[in-house]
Amino acid sequence: MIMDGNGRWAKNRFLPRVAGHARGVRRVRDVVKFCLARQTRFLTLFAFSTENWNRPENEVSYLMGLFAATLEGEINKLWENGVRLRVIGDRTRFTPRLQALIASAEARTAGADRLILTVAANYGGQWDIQQAFRAWMKNQWPSLATGGTLPEPSEIDLKPYLSMAYAPDPDLVIRTGGEQRISNFLMWQSVYAELYFTETLWPDFDTAAMELAFAWFAGRERRFGQIGQQQRATAC
Ligand code: FPP
Repeated sequence: MIMDGNGRWAKNRFLPRVAGHARGVRRVRDVVKFCLARQTRFLTLFAFSTENWNRPENEVSYLMGLFAATLEGEINKLWENGVRLRVIGDRTRFTPRLQALIASAEARTAGADRLILTVAANYGGQWDIQQAFRAWMKNQWPSLATGGTLPEPSEIDLKPYLSMAYAPDPDLVIRTGGEQRISNFLMWQSVYAELYFTETLWPDFDTAAMELAFAWFAGRERRFGQIGQQQRATAC
């Protein structure tokens, strides 16, 4: 989920932008409940991108505070409902307190597996590919040092090193708020994702809106680079 439109939702109501983020948390709850009811195994929320640091300082610090408060307030409920929380992104830029909260929330829910809720925070698809490549290089290093050669670029499999190596690639990417772009979300992983764009602003994205997105997805023919006939033959 690319949760866009909080600022505009607030502006339309003559409220400060941050009021839209606060209201957005309600929708996070609804979407989690919806996914649990639909037995969706993986839900990934783009909460804060590597580019979002460029926002006004008060908005950045509000978002950090909201993230911390939501973690503290919701973690027990997540655990009770079988939701495992995972956070992807470069967390070293967060305050030590937020880093500790994230670590304890992840540890608290580590045994849950009904729904894997991933929050992308200080995350960017380009950052992810870079960190995966660095990790791959590090792993390759011992063999290079003893005379091994680098494989062809096309043979390099970065998937095990990407932040979401634990999950299948996304089937559906939903972006609210009217823009039609990926904005550095799961760039490597969403190559064959169905892309759903809606004008609805994130704070208005309720269960009915989610139903519409799922219904749209159910009607898509997914070919993964093949032709439809081949896909149907594999399914038989
Ligand atoms: C984009 O809307 C939204 C964000 C950058 C933050 C999203 C955060 C939340 C929904 C709340 C926190 C989430 C968790 C998981 C605790 P925008 O501000 O760019 O909207 P605009 O395009 O209308 O200005």
